[in-house]
Amino acid sequence: LRLGAFVHRRIIAPGALASATLLLAIPASAASYSPGAPGIGDPYYPAYGNGGYDVSHYDLRLKYQPATDELEGTATLLARTTQDLSRFNLDFVLDVGEVRVNGAEAAFRASGEHELEITPRTPLPKGTAVTVVVRYRAVPSTKQAYGFTGWHRTPDGGIGANEPEAAWWWFPSNDHPLDKATYDVSVAVPDGTQAISNGTLQSTVSRLGWTRYNWRSNKPQATYLATLAVGKFDITTGRTDSGVPVINAYSKDLGDNYGAARASVERTGEIADWLSGYFGKYPYNALGGYVPNTTTGYALETQTRPFYSPRQFANGSNVSVVVHELAHQWYGDLVSVAGWKDIWINEGFARYAQWLWSEHEGEGTAQELADHVYASHPADDAFWTVKPGDPGPDNQFHLAVYDRGALALQALRNEVGDDAFFALLKGWPRKYAYGNASVAAFRAYAEEVSGRPLAAFFDTWLFQPSKPGVSAARGASI
Ligand code: ARG
Ligand code: ZN
Repeated sequence: LRLGAFVHRRIIAPGALASATLLLAIPASAASYSPGAPGIGDPYYPAYGNGGYDVSHYDLRLKYQPATDELEGTATLLARTTQDLSRFNLDFVLDVGEVRVNGAEAAFRASGEHELEITPRTPLPKGTAVTVVVRYRAVPSTKQAYGFTGWHRTPDGGIGANEPEAAWWWFPSNDHPLDKATYDVSVAVPDGTQAISNGTLQSTVSRLGWTRYNWRSNKPQATYLATLAVGKFDITTGRTDSGVPVINAYSKDLGDNYGAARASVERTGEIADWLSGYFGKYPYNALGGYVPNTTTGYALETQTRPFYSPRQFANGSNVSVVVHELAHQWYGDLVSVAGWKDIWINEGFARYAQWLWSEHEGEGTAQELADHVYASHPADDAFWTVKPGDPGPDNQFHLAVYDRGALALQALRNEVGDDAFFALLKGWPRKYAYGNASVAAFRAYAEEVSGRPLAAFFDTWLFQPSKPGVSAARGASI
């Protein structure tokens, strides 16, 4: 439902303070009220996220019909204003029928590629709690922004899982990792179909042919790490040695890949416990993974419950990808990027965890794998033009962010020694737990823990668009 002219006319223009109600509400300081910025200020993605408020909780009560890909429901956001707000944006591309702010109907309109602009009846003073209710209904797979859709339809359902943008297709949000929140995701699907999301399954309730799955993710979670998958799944449950409940889900329709996918993802608990030896205690009260029947090629570290593509299991079991996505639970999810340019903190470390696993399995040491990356890309390979410390939005997921990124970590290990390096690996997730941090903050922390100046080192390994020279490499025993 595009909003009609009727709604347009009800939008209060900023500065339209001739309105008697507004003058009565806040006569003295009305001049300081202004619209929240349409972006949170990320140089890679200027329109992502929004300014003027901070969300603490998303309550999503949804219903999804796999036969038609129709999604409908109500999102209730608990937020707090960070400025005197005349209006504010959410990021969303589905059709909105109604918006309420603190109980009162609010004017709204779609703008830009993915903005929902909301004008509350009365402006919102800085530092106050705000409840925003958005009712919506749409066929997410038909909605595009910048020419693509982050919602993947499957033969028996649909999936919201993408990076850096995924929420636009299933819930309105302040879509940037800087604004983390807790989630209740409640989704009704036809009996016999399952809905998978993050965290713990609080309950399932069946009524009138529909089964409602009530999921809760009770620790701060970035918007891109929220996921929803609807389809026909086999669900397995268990518990890690450390006592964390595990729920995994495998599409019944994975064909030849079913065995390999299940054989890999069933190792989740064991791997999370193994990783905790390097990164510290597992930070959440739920764990698992899900493999839907999608043709999508990537995996994603959706919080507590990563998304895997069946294609990753086409050659047989692939425990390494499970190690990668679970490593992100610390590097990416617990400590999230401060801006998207900080992606090395996610991908370099998740790749390095795969190298540690390889070493553990006797399939090649981290040093050997680092040597291989160094040797297998000649100096004129475009690989070295990508700076893992600031790759640019087009190269955010370039192989170099992963492999050159992990190579930099092996070089750092050789530079500062094992004691300092492993202290760093474990100390970082604790230092910035449930928050955000940048590559610059990691460098500062590495200098603090190792007691060495590392400016030149970081520049060579992460910020030069060229292959580190033999002397730099030799200094790092590469
Ligand atoms: N963080 C994901 C991983 O390394 C990568 C996601 C890439 N996103 C994409 N849309 N291709 O596992
Ligand atoms: Zn990754």
